[in-house]
Amino acid sequence: MKYAHIVGWGSFRPDKILTNHDLARIVDTSDEWIYSRTGIRERRIASEKETTATLAFEAAARALQRADLHPSQVELIIVATSTPEYIFPSTACRVQDYLGATKAGAFDLSAACSGFVYALSMAAQSIQTGSVRNAIVIGAETMSRVMDWEDRGTCILFGDGAGAIVLKGSSVPGGVMASTLRSDGSGGDLLSLPAVYHNPMPVLGPEYLHQNGHRKNTVDMNGRQVFRFATQVIASSVEETVAKAGLTMDEVALIVPHQANVRIIESAAKRLKIPVERFYMNVDTMGNTSAASIPIALCDAVHDGRLRPDDNVVFVGFGGGLTWAASVVKWNVTPPEISLPRREWRRARYILARARSQIKKWRRKIIDRVLFSPAPHERMRDADRKE
Ligand code: UT7
Repeated sequence: MKYAHIVGWGSFRPDKILTNHDLARIVDTSDEWIYSRTGIRERRIASEKETTATLAFEAAARALQRADLHPSQVELIIVATSTPEYIFPSTACRVQDYLGATKAGAFDLSAACSGFVYALSMAAQSIQTGSVRNAIVIGAETMSRVMDWEDRGTCILFGDGAGAIVLKGSSVPGGVMASTLRSDGSGGDLLSLPAVYHNPMPVLGPEYLHQNGHRKNTVDMNGRQVFRFATQVIASSVEETVAKAGLTMDEVALIVPHQANVRIIESAAKRLKIPVERFYMNVDTMGNTSAASIPIALCDAVHDGRLRPDDNVVFVGFGGGLTWAASVVKWNVTPPEISLPRREWRRARYILARARSQIKKWRRKIIDRVLFSPAPHERMRDADRKE
């Protein structure tokens, strides 16, 4: 089982669409400016009820469906995200619970917009070394929750969504053939999102807060410098990884890049001396969904018939950290046809998984009450209070 093949894929986009015209009513911008500088026309925004974990679950459920894999067979779940609801529990653990993937290890991976390619590489290696037989790799974001909606330099770029793939071990050559992961922390200040606990805590006192101020918990970016960095690293990492896979650029059928800006992709195509048509783009309708952008674009590319069996596809991501990464994948598994009743039965199983999760929570509470009723010193303290 030394090859890790993509055998399932799925994406989920929230219903709410935010157009450039909508944005022009919020900040000083225009459809003309945004479209000509970025190629973006609209992006999706999560509803109040949706979270990074629910988006991730929906994408993962679709990918499992396509792979015809039961959640209880899943052995590893990695969620690449910069917008988890909690530092812990991880988004991946919540997805594990929603899916009822009772035999899976689960963790989040933080590498900003490169996160999906980093996670793909980690999962592929886990399969190639025999540590697990399959894995779900998810990129999921609710970027709208970390935007400064007064900063026109950033809030026009980002959107929400999730994409997932299922990787499975096989003895058939192909699948994830080579990856390159890189970072340069010296450029960390060019694109950042401070964690909530990065703010000074009240224990430091009002004087400290007065002197140092509160830091924003929203995305901060030096657009021009990130633009320059992106055009350089896309070309270099694609070339390096394609060579590692023993291929030439002519043997690459499609490049699915992180969807940040059409101009970045055009400029990378020029550096690589290949036609821009060999890059898949859906940034016009999705905006920049950070770690989710590559798997969502992959799903759209498959849907549009841009990938055929035995094609070599390259994923390339870049972003905060600074980080960048590329993977070469041979696309050679045709998914099975799944009947409608079987699909419906799968949906029903997710409802059962949620019910099972609730029952487990109640059982813990009951055991807590029965076995660990107040200790003697607590009973005395309660009695003292009553007096
Ligand atoms: O996923 C993470 C990776 N992130 C990226 O890849 C982002 C990379 N950077 C970019 O995509 C581009 O730098 C931006 C789209 C963010 C900005 O485009 P730009 O062509 O680099 O514009 P700029 O920052 O050089 O600004 C040009 C002008 C400025 O006005 P002045 O100083 O020339 O008068 C800005 O104030 O455009 C102005 N501007 C805007 N005008 C209307 C900046 N944002 C806007 C806006 N609407 N939304």
